[in-house]
Amino acid sequence: MTIVNFGSINVDLVYALERMPQPGETLSARSFEQFLGGKGVNQSVAIAASGGEVRHIGAVGPDGDWALGRVAALGVATDGVARVATATGHAIIFVDAHAENMIVIHGGANQALNEAQIDAALAAAPSHAWVLLQNETNLTVEIVAKAKQAGLRVAYSPAPFDEARALAVIDQVDLMAVNQYEAEALRAARPDLSGTALLITHGAKGAEFIAQDGQRQFQAAFAVDPVDTTGAGDTFLGAFLAHYSQAPDQLSLALRYAAAAAALQVQKPGAAVAIPSKSEVEAFLAQQARAG
Ligand code: RIB
Repeated sequence: MTIVNFGSINVDLVYALERMPQPGETLSARSFEQFLGGKGVNQSVAIAASGGEVRHIGAVGPDGDWALGRVAALGVATDGVARVATATGHAIIFVDAHAENMIVIHGGANQALNEAQIDAALAAAPSHAWVLLQNETNLTVEIVAKAKQAGLRVAYSPAPFDEARALAVIDQVDLMAVNQYEAEALRAARPDLSGTALLITHGAKGAEFIAQDGQRQFQAAFAVDPVDTTGAGDTFLGAFLAHYSQAPDQLSLALRYAAAAAALQVQKPGAAVAIPSKSEVEAFLAQQARAG
């Protein structure tokens, strides 16, 4: 099943720290590394790594060669990525000794999607395709409206969370993917979320799928020792959607595969580059089954 992903592409500047800095404090990093990231591209890499077919639609700046090279090297075609005059988006990421992170993003080229690029991508999408999007690009409300007008199904991850943008489209999207905090914020703004399927990730506890009719299915997380949780939610969503879009009746398989993919991803540093291949996930699941 084709998934057309309108998503961010970031250069992640990652600083490993003993602990997070306090306001006004200067800390020395233990190490520094540059990785490919961006919620959008992380999800595209996870879809491709899980055996799904993804078309990534986004934008990079004149400085975008490094990021585009990494995207292609990770198995995602770059022909849907525009070159614009604004610098490529980036993220400053602190990762502490407990593998927790703090992230500040600068949108840059991710905020330069235009309607012609969106229209062309949707016109080229097969009628059975899913559209995926997050909140790191501009024109999210427009993308949802155009995708629904074209009769496509839409999965939306409203991160970084923006209540107004999420509420503007909640009745149109087919799947809303949120973390536990975003789910709470949505429920505070609108107590009745029935009518939209929800995929809620609960970090190290696991994830839950709530269907449109309210039926719930829970998937526990696999217990692992994380080194960097950056991009774990993106990995979960991409891996889940690759399976769910193909076989919506095999929900528990999709959830279990996604939990395994995220469990492997957090054991390596970096976001997109840490996403495991399908064979790695299947080997992990077989090992878990043997362990009983
Ligand atoms: O979800 C993780 C991602 O958030 C990072 O890769 C960073 O680029 C930010 O977009």
